[in-house]
Amino acid sequence: MKHWLSMLDHAPAELAELIADARRMKAGDSADALRGKILGMVFFNPSLRTRTSFEAAMLRFGGHAISLDVGGDTWNLEHRDGVVMDADRAEHVKEAAPVLSRYCDALAVRTFAGLKNANEDAADSLIRAFARYSTVPLINMESAMEHPCQGMADWMTVEEKLGPTRGRNFVLTWAPQAKAVPMAVPHSAALSAAAAGMNLTIAHPKGYELNAGILDRAQSWCESAGGKFQITHDQSAACEIADVVYVKSWGSTAFYGNADAQKEDFRRYASWMVDPRHLVGQKTILMHCLPVRRNVVISDAALDDPRCVVVDQAENRLWTQAAILNRLLRR
Ligand code: CP
Repeated sequence: MKHWLSMLDHAPAELAELIADARRMKAGDSADALRGKILGMVFFNPSLRTRTSFEAAMLRFGGHAISLDVGGDTWNLEHRDGVVMDADRAEHVKEAAPVLSRYCDALAVRTFAGLKNANEDAADSLIRAFARYSTVPLINMESAMEHPCQGMADWMTVEEKLGPTRGRNFVLTWAPQAKAVPMAVPHSAALSAAAAGMNLTIAHPKGYELNAGILDRAQSWCESAGGKFQITHDQSAACEIADVVYVKSWGSTAFYGNADAQKEDFRRYASWMVDPRHLVGQKTILMHCLPVRRNVVISDAALDDPRCVVVDQAENRLWTQAAILNRLLRR
């Protein structure tokens, strides 16, 4: 494994091995796996969990992490080729990535989708530029298209809560929001559920389709594992058979560049907010990557229900990332 950029770069069996590694590390194995290693983290966007869980993983396993805020405590970075850099971006990734590679054993980048042009977001060009110019392993801490570390933590959490994942019913449901948000998390949730051999149902209103290439791969992984893959516009029916209700909001490409129209459409689908009526089974678990807007995306009653496992999910970011770092950096 050179970089950790996309779940699409890995076979489901390889991803399952990483989950097993993470469970071993959580149980106390490999105490100094990252001894003496330095991780450089570059944030283009805010974070609570990603920043802290990566730093905690490095410290717990004997290493160290350095965090940079682009445009805050470090220069604004350009990544496009051939541009005249006469505006606010003072440094190019072409220099920044190799320089950071001289100081650090691995790099990690967080950058969100622009939500203006679906093709540009699909190209994931900022993280790809870092990957091109970094001379050490690069980790995707959420890009325009995927949040693979989140997907791995989600998989680990389902396995801890429900046991073997194969054949479980995983429902990924869209929910309204206060403003447009990216598709990276639902993409990775779909891919990890499929790679884990679960039956995957994706519920969303018409017009909120996810990326076709991601859906194709999720379907192919589901079917290879003998599972079912379906997309529906009927949220209630989908949740009736759910072992896992995974909630995430995302914007519609139809409203990219039009914040008012997107906000109005979220209001139109306010009834998609998840509450306890969507948790039909006594053992059904409720998941969300966090942060979550209470009483917009998920109600207080559902988030405060004992079947809600969002804090366990967040904790497992640390252990799955420790396993990824160990694979990338092991001696
Ligand atoms: N889930 C997640 O990535 O959280 P942060 O945005 O707080 O890092």
